[in-house]
Amino acid sequence: MRKIAIFASGSGSNAQNIIEYFADSRQVQVSHIFCDKKNAYVLERAKNIGIPTVVFTKKEFNNSSRIIDTLQNEGIDLIILAGFLLLIPQNILEAYPNKIINIHPALLPKYGGKGMYGMNVHKAVHEAKEKATGITIHFLNEKYDEGEIIFQAKCEIKENDTPETIAQKVHALEYEHFPRVIEEYLIS
Ligand code: GRF
Repeated sequence: MRKIAIFASGSGSNAQNIIEYFADSRQVQVSHIFCDKKNAYVLERAKNIGIPTVVFTKKEFNNSSRIIDTLQNEGIDLIILAGFLLLIPQNILEAYPNKIINIHPALLPKYGGKGMYGMNVHKAVHEAKEKATGITIHFLNEKYDEGEIIFQAKCEIKENDTPETIAQKVHALEYEHFPRVIEEYLIS
């Protein structure tokens, strides 16, 4: 069994989608949800589905060994970032080379980098009158949003789309592709 830990800071709809995708898998198990926001809705989802959670503060994440110790003690093979907003500290990057995968809600290298998360991305894409956007699934390295790209998928933007409808289209792509790309990476 390959074990996944999902890191999320917000709603966690991708986390839930990934958990449901692997619920009956004999090869892949979502082991824990790691979360830096004690009121995040992802914790409610995890509770309802019955997945254990690890909740921590930013300070603890950066200055203690609790998170990496937990990952290693639980035998986590792969870390999935699904709407996780903190930078990953060096000790975790070093312990999981090419084993941390992030999803970004745009076509990197465009619309990446500092401040480019959640609705900020879709607003920027809308303002630039882009004709297309999409998702990028990539490995994480020390520079956020610059790790090797594993997969991208595109969707069209129509003239009457708003940042909200763009977000919906991007979410649909995320739900369709993210679990499958994780599965292919883990069991190929
Ligand atoms: C997703 O669009 C993901 O790409 C991004 O943050 C969003 C998280 O949504 N980085 P959710 O918490 O999975 O609903």
